[in-house]
Amino acid sequence: MIEFTLNGKRVQTDAASDTPLVWVIRDEFGLKGTKFGCGVAMCGACTVHIDGNAIRSCSYPVSLAKDKNVNTIESFNNAHPLQSAWVEEQVPQCGYCQSGQIMQAATLLDRNPNPSDQDIVNHMSTNYCRCMAYPRIKKAIKRAAT
Ligand code: FES
Repeated sequence: MIEFTLNGKRVQTDAASDTPLVWVIRDEFGLKGTKFGCGVAMCGACTVHIDGNAIRSCSYPVSLAKDKNVNTIESFNNAHPLQSAWVEEQVPQCGYCQSGQIMQAATLLDRNPNPSDQDIVNHMSTNYCRCMAYPRIKKAIKRAAT
């Protein structure tokens, strides 16, 4: 039995300790906002927060989440400034990577509320978008930061 806090609620799972966190989040707790892309910690679609840090849940064994605070895109409850900026800038095309992009961006604004263009490029360079929405992602982050 592994216990952790998921979006503010204490939860337990009987999943095998090496189960990637993304599957526990999606399949056991039904939080489908976290996406599975590459499965090898390369694309960022599966990004969630653990104790305030952006991590790749496809490559993070659930056992490592024990007693930690895990937050998914659902924790923002559609009220995060990045989410309204994403809508205003019409960022998504296919949309698949976008929750991971927002989770990654949120850790930038947490640490740097007024990032430069280069700060944004550097911080977001770990998250891929196959629709090439990068210019709109950057504009949305700047909008949310203002
Ligand atoms: Fe986890 Fe691509 S699915 S980084």
